[in-house]
Amino acid sequence: MILSGRHMAPQERVFVTDAAEEVRVRNTLPRDFPGISDLCKCIYPDTAPWSANELSSHLAVFPEGQFVAVYGSEEKVVGMCASLIVLWDDYQMLDNWEAFTADGFFTNHDAKRGHTLYGAEVIVDPRFEHHGIGEKLYCARRGLTKRLELWRIRGGSRLRGYHQYAGQVAPEEYVVQVVHGYLRDPTLTFQLHQGFHVLAVVPHYLSDDPASLGYAAVIEWLNPETIVPEMLVERPTQFLHKDVLRHLVTGDNRGGC
Ligand SMILES: CC(C)(COP(=O)(O)OP(=O)(O)OC[C@H]1O[C@@H](n2cnc3c(N)ncnc32)[C@H](O)[C@@H]1OP(=O)(O)O)[C@@H](O)C(=O)NCCC(=O)NCCS
Repeated sequence: MILSGRHMAPQERVFVTDAAEEVRVRNTLPRDFPGISDLCKCIYPDTAPWSANELSSHLAVFPEGQFVAVYGSEEKVVGMCASLIVLWDDYQMLDNWEAFTADGFFTNHDAKRGHTLYGAEVIVDPRFEHHGIGEKLYCARRGLTKRLELWRIRGGSRLRGYHQYAGQVAPEEYVVQVVHGYLRDPTLTFQLHQGFHVLAVVPHYLSDDPASLGYAAVIEWLNPETIVPEMLVERPTQFLHKDVLRHLVTGDNRGGC
């Protein structure tokens, strides 16, 4: 495999066709920390990467909630996702990433009272994007949510493509256009295809993210094994695709793995 360059156009990505099969997802171990740090620096060059202290804290409070995607026998880290359990009522929809993650340490993890898996991070090496690694990571999250009989996954989806449209449309309108497939966002479109839907659009979610200008969509995936009609009451509908309610009510929510 040839790997080169940080921000490659799709045609510049080099990926041996069967390489994705050599990527597996497992729980994060301390030996993965340097690889995770390298990955963060590659994706968010202007932001401090996850520190060993933060990653150790995640493993201390919720080891089964932390996953890496590793490639080949050397187990190169090519993706990761980090999650915690929260009691949603303890938070406001407009809270930012720091509030939901206790400034990145997950010390607010509350498996006793919480029913919501909060997705704090998901990243895939840009050189390995579009080969199903993100989906594998989300499968691991959905499987965890089902095993723990949680109600749902929620998280902030950074509006990675919004900077291209910021002068033309408000972030709410951008999200509506993405939800209905008129615009494509490199992150939100992927998450919608993973069975998520949008509850709200929030400013100042990631304060130092030039791609999203800080805006994020609050997204949700409902666990088809625990969903009950009460969970659908009084939910915001402004950002729902017209077909979503039907899927929710019939339980036809993506959950094959
Ligand atoms: C968002 C992110 C995690 C997705 O990871 P990924 O590994 O590219 O995800 P996948 O490969 O599973 O899916 C991405 C797309 O590639 C497609 N795809 C998957 N395998 C493919 C293949 N073999 N050939 C062609 N396309 C493929 C998927 O269908 C999907 O299309 P969609 O966006 O229309 O749904 C990744 O782009 C990323 O790390 N982004 C930067 C960080 C970020 O924004 N994280 C989210 C914070 S909220």
